[in-house]
Amino acid sequence: MTLPPETAQRIGHDIDRAVDILRSGGVVGVPTETVYGLGADASNSQAVARIFRIKGRPSNHPLIVHVANAQVARRWAGLWPNEAEALAESFWPGPLTLIVSKAAHVIDEVTGGLPTVALRCPSHPMMQELLQEFGGGIAAPSANRFGKVSPTTAGHVLDDLGDDVDYVLDGGPCAIGVESTIVDCTKLPVQILRPGGIPASDIRRVLGAVDTAHGPSRAPGMLESHYAPACRIHCVESTSRAEEKIMELRHRFESVHTATPSRAPVILDASSDPESFAASMYSVLRECDRSGIDDVVVILPDDEGIGAAIRDRILKASHRS
Ligand code: TXA
Ligand code: MG
Repeated sequence: MTLPPETAQRIGHDIDRAVDILRSGGVVGVPTETVYGLGADASNSQAVARIFRIKGRPSNHPLIVHVANAQVARRWAGLWPNEAEALAESFWPGPLTLIVSKAAHVIDEVTGGLPTVALRCPSHPMMQELLQEFGGGIAAPSANRFGKVSPTTAGHVLDDLGDDVDYVLDGGPCAIGVESTIVDCTKLPVQILRPGGIPASDIRRVLGAVDTAHGPSRAPGMLESHYAPACRIHCVESTSRAEEKIMELRHRFESVHTATPSRAPVILDASSDPESFAASMYSVLRECDRSGIDDVVVILPDDEGIGAAIRDRILKASHRS
């Protein structure tokens, strides 16, 4: 595929260039193993303010600070509890975000004025290299406009943010495809605020106890209508229910459209192989929107492992604002 010259210059593998942009207060699309982030120097309030402007995100929704390792993470924490240490040791680098009390130097623009900070050490090799070269913390939300589907390729980032992003590091498609698990380590037992790439059972194995009742939401920004594609999502719990639903939707569709079968309702099966489904979930939802499909029936996976994160995102995507 040949990209137009402006696009070709804004997407690439140049880590030095990404570091220069971050140091001069710019914003860079960054690959992680979960989804792509929109990164800025977490110590630079103007650069962080730019993230909020680009995303159209309310300023009281805090950002995750990405760090190269647990040693750097401790510099961003006021208190670093034993639970945080144990989880970091077991799952970092990886798709796990830890909420701890913040160090005094952490700016309010990052935490939305909260006394806590979200810290994550991602495993994606290109992001690791970037973090090590940059040295500091990179504040990064998912690189989509507020409330929309997260990006899992560099192309998605440019599709969504266009000229607003200075550069996108292309690390290929994200392997996990759903965001990190967020664990609040400021209380005992620790609480999962958002299910994600690391299952609750793995966290329980390390700490013994974990609170998985992730509501009422204590993570600002976890709205019911998050992760919303343009298509309508219908959630079902079994193949037979999916078949009934698709018959009903196709019947309705055929009575309205005769010449556009490519837009007919489709079934997505998230239940047979949840890991693979997660990896392509956001791409497939984007593809449905691009094809003009109005109705998508999703067979939900069991509420365990990565299935908990899929259910959370798909149920949110099915709430239309
Ligand atoms: O996998 C991920 O976590 C991706 C990649 C780019 O790292 N990032 C991501 O960021 O999903 P974002 O901004 O889309 O979601 C971060 C969530 C938000 O819902 C925010 O409210 C919550 O983390 N959060 C951040 N700081 C927090 C804090 N101090 N207390 C509670 N929740 C916090
Ligand atoms: Mg997000």
